[in-house]
Parts: sequence; structure tokens; C-alpha cells
Amino acid sequence: MADLQGLKVAKDYHTDVPFANQNGFYLKGINSLDWGMKRHMANIFDPKSGNTVMFAFDHGYFMGSTAGLERLDLLLPKLAPHVNCFMGTRGAIRTCVPPEIAPSIALRVTSGSSMLQDDLSHEIVAVDIEDAVRMNADCMAVQTFVGADGQLSSLENLNQVINAGMRYSIPTMGVCAVGKDMARTDRFFKLATRIIAEMGCQVVKTYDCENFEEVVAACPVPIVVAGGKKLAEAEAMTLAYSVIQKGARGVDMGRNIFQSEHPVEMAIAINKIVHEGFTDKEAYELYLDSING
Ligand code: R5P
Repeated sequence: MADLQGLKVAKDYHTDVPFANQNGFYLKGINSLDWGMKRHMANIFDPKSGNTVMFAFDHGYFMGSTAGLERLDLLLPKLAPHVNCFMGTRGAIRTCVPPEIAPSIALRVTSGSSMLQDDLSHEIVAVDIEDAVRMNADCMAVQTFVGADGQLSSLENLNQVINAGMRYSIPTMGVCAVGKDMARTDRFFKLATRIIAEMGCQVVKTYDCENFEEVVAACPVPIVVAGGKKLAEAEAMTLAYSVIQKGARGVDMGRNIFQSEHPVEMAIAINKIVHEGFTDKEAYELYLDSING
């Protein structure tokens, strides 16, 4: 292992230089993978824009019934036409998403904690690869706790899922977890996203931060950004616009859609930013026009 003493600060991110090994496929880092893996990635990431709007509703896996997600059966069919991907648990998807209307699926495959605990970093792989195949999942999402008490077991979970995914050509999305005590700095996200990518994930989900374009540049696979806590709609659109400008290939947004008073209109506006080059201001005007009739 490299000596940590006198470690130099990484700085040569070349954020203005495109990723070099991309010939043949439109998504960073996926060029050398096989047809099935590319097909799943193309289900998630629109081949025209190269981007994705994922809708995250997996919060119940540790929070139980969550404000805005009380009736998944009513909410999900309304949002399905307006997003590229549903990110949820197999229980929520099987019971509340009619298969004929489902967009692509990011299946959460780890669980084991609840919000009643202080330390949420100890999870297990709860879904067999065979069940991910049966559900035709387009990727499997693994919560990954770099720097937390459960780091070793969560990296073990991540590698177990990646290994199974490689056997069946199903991508793995490493979800960069942020514990209560973890600073949301670019230093932390550069560490965590790169560790997750080097394990072999095909997608990394993380958060916005200072110098986010450097986090993107140093991550050799597409990054999608979580929405995080509920913001005013205009601010959530600014977040989406900002991360797309800095190289994210999409958002994986939960509360900022399902806790909005107008989730469908919110999803439509986010789509315009992610896929059609709308600015945050243009998208917000569209949102206001649509909710005011
Ligand atoms: C976090 O680990 C959960 O998996 C959520 O999917 C994620 O936080 C995205 O949801 P939100 O935009 O509400 O943060």
C-alpha cells in the first residue's frame, strides 16, 4: 500500500479535456463492456442527451412511510412518463409499479438499517442477483459508506453485487452515503466516488459540492447527483442546472420531486434542464406557467 506520509494533493484534473477512452459508446467508462451492459445503460441514460432523470423513492427502505411517498401506487404511475428511471426497492416496485408503464429500473439491493439507529452504515445485500434478473433491473444500487464504521462490510457488499452484475451484464450503481458526521467536502467526495468507481461500478451516485467538476473529471464512469433535502423548487432547479453544467450525467432526485406540491410539473421541469438544455430560470418559468394553468 502506498505510503500516506507526505501525500501530495491531487490537482491535475484537466476539467476542460474530455474523457479519453470513450470511442464507440456515448457513456464514459462503458466502452469496453459488453452489449447487455450497454443496453441497460442505454435504458437509463437517454442516448440523445446522454443524461438521465432518475426518480428516487427508496427512502422507505430505512425511513418507513415518508412524507410524499405515503401512496406509491398513486404517485408512481403519474411520474413514470416523465422520468428515465425509477430507483426503488423490489417491494415498492413489484407492488406499486405496473410493469407495462415502468421506465428503466435502478433496483436498491442493500438494506438492513432503520432511522431508529444512530449508525446506519451496516447493511447487507438483501436481493439475489436472480431476482434482479427476474425484475429486468437496469442497474442495482448499493449504499456505500466510505469512512464510516461499516466501510468494510459496505465495500464487501458493493464488490459482491458488482461481481454478480458482471456475470449477468447488469450495471451496479454505487451510492455514495453521507453519514451525519461526514463533511460534504470535495475532498470527501473525491475519495468516496473514486473508491466506488475503482471497485468497478458502472454508475456513481453522489452529491453536489465545491469543485464538483473535479469530482466528475476524476471519476471514470457517469455520475448522477442526489437531490438531497427538500429545497424551494427554484433552488432545486438551480442545483440540477449547476451539476449538469459541471459534467453530471443526470440527477437521482427524490424529495425535491415527491415533496413538491406539484411533483409531475417538477419532474417535467427537471427533464428540460437535464435533456433539453434549459437553464434553471427557463425551467422555473415553465414550472410556474404549468402550475398556474
Ligand atoms: C439515499 O441514499 C436514498 O437512496 C435516496 O435515493 C437518495 O438520497 C435520493 O433521494 P433525495 O433526492 O431525496 O436525497
